[in-house]
Amino acid sequence: MSFQRPPRHFLAIPDFSVGELRTLFDLAERMRTGAYTSKCLVGKALAMIFMKASTRTRVSFEVGAWQLGGHALFLSPRDVQLGRGEPIADTARVLSRYVDGIMIRTFAHSDVEVLASHSTVPVINGLTDLLHPCQVLADLLTVQQQLGTYDGKIIAWVGDGNNMANSWINAAFRLGFRLKLACPEGYDPDPAVLARAKSHADVTVVRDPLEAVEGAHVVSTDVWASMGQEDEQAVRARAFAGFRVDESLMRRAEPDAIFLHCLPAHRGEEVTAGVIDGPWSRVWDEAENRLHIQKAIMAVLMGGEPFA
Ligand code: CP
Ligand code: NVA
Repeated sequence: MSFQRPPRHFLAIPDFSVGELRTLFDLAERMRTGAYTSKCLVGKALAMIFMKASTRTRVSFEVGAWQLGGHALFLSPRDVQLGRGEPIADTARVLSRYVDGIMIRTFAHSDVEVLASHSTVPVINGLTDLLHPCQVLADLLTVQQQLGTYDGKIIAWVGDGNNMANSWINAAFRLGFRLKLACPEGYDPDPAVLARAKSHADVTVVRDPLEAVEGAHVVSTDVWASMGQEDEQAVRARAFAGFRVDESLMRRAEPDAIFLHCLPAHRGEEVTAGVIDGPWSRVWDEAENRLHIQKAIMAVLMGGEPFA
């Protein structure tokens, strides 16, 4: 395997070109409708390393690999030597001898970069503290299904400048749509991710959620304390007061605006039950789209499906 050309990884949305992203959305849509029937992962295995909890990512990758004819292995820190301090580079070298792709969810984004640089098989980012690219591709697929296109749409982000916000910024950087983020002071997105996007797209960070959602076609939010930030819950609850997505905020968006949330959600904190369970919400389609878009990603990175 080490004599083959370097594998394509998916660590961040800009790893794919605009054309490649369009191919992925088309493929995902064909998978969703049942038009795609190839078992492109027959005889292939995906290792799934989870250093953090997961419902959607774990189940959608595992079921997705199986639906394409492949096999997925769930590896938690309690089960693998990585959890007892085996270097991530060694883990990458060893897993590359057994499997055809590695999905990883962990804390430091640099760990995923180290894993990828020592892996001879494709590595897929299933969430880090910095980014959650599979989720935002599923979100874009949802926008395309619900609104026809993401081109020319205004996307509003309300809340923490976290891994989801950073991935939305990366998506705006690559695809060029308008993105307005409302974050409390001290909870801005990653400065490097933001600076790069600003040179290519209309991405703004404001302090007022009303300003962000005005004219928006999509309103999205996420938990106030992400995985690994549980100790900050009380401090964050105070900082994010006023950043809850409620019915009156949604009414300031475009009349046909949709609401997205990557889930898990805390009703009564970052979003009201009236919004997430109401007519604006597309969160269940959004969750389903994780399956379709990740199958498309696995098909091109691991299954030989052409990008064009
Ligand atoms: N949205 C998302 O990634 O969910 P899980 O944490 O359940 O995987
Ligand atoms: N920002 C959240 C997303 C969970 C899917 C977290 O990192 O916990």
